[in-house]
Amino acid sequence: MLVIDSPCALREAIKQFKQQGKAISFIPTMGNLHSGHIELVKRGQQIAPVSVVSIFVNPMQFNNADDLKNYPKTLTADCQALEAVGVDIVFTPSSEVIYPNGLAAQTYIEVPELSNCLEGELRPGHFRGMSTIVNKLFNLVQPDYACFGEKDFQQLAIVKQMVADMALPIEIIPVATVREESGLAMSSRNNKLSEPEKQLAPLLAKVMNQLAKDVQKATTQHSLLIHDASRTLNASGFAVDDIHIVDSATLKPVTETTKQAVILMAAFLGTTRLIDNKVVTLNEHLHH
Ligand code: PAF
Repeated sequence: MLVIDSPCALREAIKQFKQQGKAISFIPTMGNLHSGHIELVKRGQQIAPVSVVSIFVNPMQFNNADDLKNYPKTLTADCQALEAVGVDIVFTPSSEVIYPNGLAAQTYIEVPELSNCLEGELRPGHFRGMSTIVNKLFNLVQPDYACFGEKDFQQLAIVKQMVADMALPIEIIPVATVREESGLAMSSRNNKLSEPEKQLAPLLAKVMNQLAKDVQKATTQHSLLIHDASRTLNASGFAVDDIHIVDSATLKPVTETTKQAVILMAAFLGTTRLIDNKVVTLNEHLHH
């Protein structure tokens, strides 16, 4: 496995693989890898013979300096895990290499409509930073395929739109959320949970699954269902931040023509914000 931190060396290594006619899969990460990331890597390896992973804690997508400073860095363990699954290249650039002129001077990519709603409303600039780095990494790695987890539903929707809008020759592969046996979605943030919080955390997915069943039954208004779900979670020790049921394609409110809705959940356990989501196919004529 090659561990490369310079764009020049990366381009050289990629060129070699391209000259051999080999397709490349790419998984961008911010490190602190867990089984969910490894699942993305394995998916990429099923599709293409060469797999590239980047580890870069992207300052442009953090709107909180403390969050950025405290983001866990576990490069040695991450590289060991990637080597064990047979990754070909790990790209680990520094911030100075990626943003030589600083963040304020950096050209950016923004997918306007999908970025400014939902999570984007709560985290201004986050998705602009995310799409900018993903675009830049795509240009450096030049992959044929890139795998993204469905766990970050809005991120995945934005990346797909960016690729379509900018005519990038890359196929985006969505990968289903990996869950613990309890149903809890895997996340780097789970490490921050205390023992009692860990016990409680799976309730988020349970309440979401119940919400999905109720949405499918379509006998009660979504706003009431959301209210009930929030009450259940809050009564158990969560502090619900946001629950939305929106059209899975537009991320806008569900309308008569919506075929699939997505339930987006965000709730705090202590200081840790957990997110999860579930897509629900709606019965025609039974919308709210
Ligand atoms: O999902 C992430 O870890 C990040 O948003 C990504 C895609 C690596 C971009 O920095």
